[in-house]
Amino acid sequence: MSRTLIAYTKNKADENVELFGWVHGRRDHGKIIFIDLRDKSGIVQLVFTPQDKELYKTAETLRSEWVLKVSGKVAKRPSAMVNKEIETGDIEVQPESIEVLSEAATPPFALDTDGREIGEENRMKYRYLDLRRERLSKNMALRHRVTKFIRDFFDREGFLEIETPIMTKSTPEGARDYVVPSRLYSGKFYALPQSPQQYKQLLMVAGIEKYFQIARSFRDEDTRGDRQPEFTQMDMEMSFVEREDVMAVNEALLIELIKNVMPNKKIQEIPFPRLTYKEAMEKYKTDRPDLREHPDDPDLLAFCWVIDFPFFEKEKEGAAHFEALAKKWTFTHNPFSAPKPEHMEWLMQKKNIGEILTTQYDIILNGFEIGGGSIRNHKAEALKKVFEILGLDEERITKNFGHMLEAFSYGAPTHGGIAWGLDRLVAILANEPNIREVIAFPKTGDARDLMMNSPSELEEKQLKELHLQIKK
Ligand code: AMO
Repeated sequence: MSRTLIAYTKNKADENVELFGWVHGRRDHGKIIFIDLRDKSGIVQLVFTPQDKELYKTAETLRSEWVLKVSGKVAKRPSAMVNKEIETGDIEVQPESIEVLSEAATPPFALDTDGREIGEENRMKYRYLDLRRERLSKNMALRHRVTKFIRDFFDREGFLEIETPIMTKSTPEGARDYVVPSRLYSGKFYALPQSPQQYKQLLMVAGIEKYFQIARSFRDEDTRGDRQPEFTQMDMEMSFVEREDVMAVNEALLIELIKNVMPNKKIQEIPFPRLTYKEAMEKYKTDRPDLREHPDDPDLLAFCWVIDFPFFEKEKEGAAHFEALAKKWTFTHNPFSAPKPEHMEWLMQKKNIGEILTTQYDIILNGFEIGGGSIRNHKAEALKKVFEILGLDEERITKNFGHMLEAFSYGAPTHGGIAWGLDRLVAILANEPNIREVIAFPKTGDARDLMMNSPSELEEKQLKELHLQIKK
């Protein structure tokens, strides 16, 4: 016999089935023992009566989270015993044999709740148990369906998914880098990517034309509910497009995604409303307004685009992207963005700097920034002006961005793209307050992995190989 998933037992009354799963719970009613058996598809009730002495004796020993193989017969429940709470509630299984595949230590917390009552430390330390709860297993399944839909959509549209390096070089995207010391080159470091930004632009120079990637990104910034040190972007880039083209593809994808993967959700307004940065700030005092008409409705999705951001702003104290070098202007989003076409002249002449608007577009959902992108500056001369405004001298420009400027000298297509915060999108779709709930193995609020016990110290030998010395 082959395995039947528990969810399918409901259609198998009077048939014999073979089930595999975990003991979810147990109730003793007088002489009858009820065991709830759980697998990834659902829960079913096993019934043991004292008639079958051997089986009954085994049933008496079973405890929560033991792993079983059960063969038995599916039986319709008498109507008074039907349980409407579970999918398989009008049948039960009468076991004919049971094999205990694993016994289990008593779990440190309950697994049959949504886990909201359990402290973060415990949930993260035993994440492999935490993930057994229905809430999280549903979130993992939703995330899979969202990612799969995105991949299929882009495939249909002629995009290639291309992986870009995780070991790379510091990119100036506004956050601190995570770095990896080099063994072969003493005193040198790789950096983990804050995003695939430069690589995807180089792929456009390489003639790929339509790229996307479900891409891991790393930023050493303070963790919050919608921020993790390590997160996932849906990253894309296209050649020979203008702002409207990129926005249109992404809007179409979001609408189709919701329709197919989350049909119970309602998008408040299609096409997505658009606000300029100025309008958003004047009307809502934020550049990521929550436009929901009924903020209490858990199935309402209010998307909007925010456009026409200033390209540069005066630096706040201590927030320099290029410390000591740039005391005056900093970029608001992405140094690789193009200005709006009508402001290119100002950029080239480095005048009216504070009034230059960028082609940047942010996509907002229910008050969260779930993505942002722009049309890029594909002309080396114009890109150089941006770095000059940021206060970089010739040497620094060459050292940091020489490879981009050189690449653009070999015939760069016009191009633009966007990256979504995939964790944020899935968290909102799942009505989760924290992106941690849609990431299988997230870091805690203070950036630790309590299960693996990371970050951790290195052996003296490793430090030596990496040419590192720890200051005590
Ligand atoms: P940006 O920096 O806006 O753009 O990042 C894109 C989206 O990623 C999400 N995000 C995060 N999610 C979780 N944890 C974090 N620490 C975190 N930081 C950002 C946000 C954000 O909108 N290369 C550009 C994109 C482009 O121009 O194409 C970029 O990375 O939802």
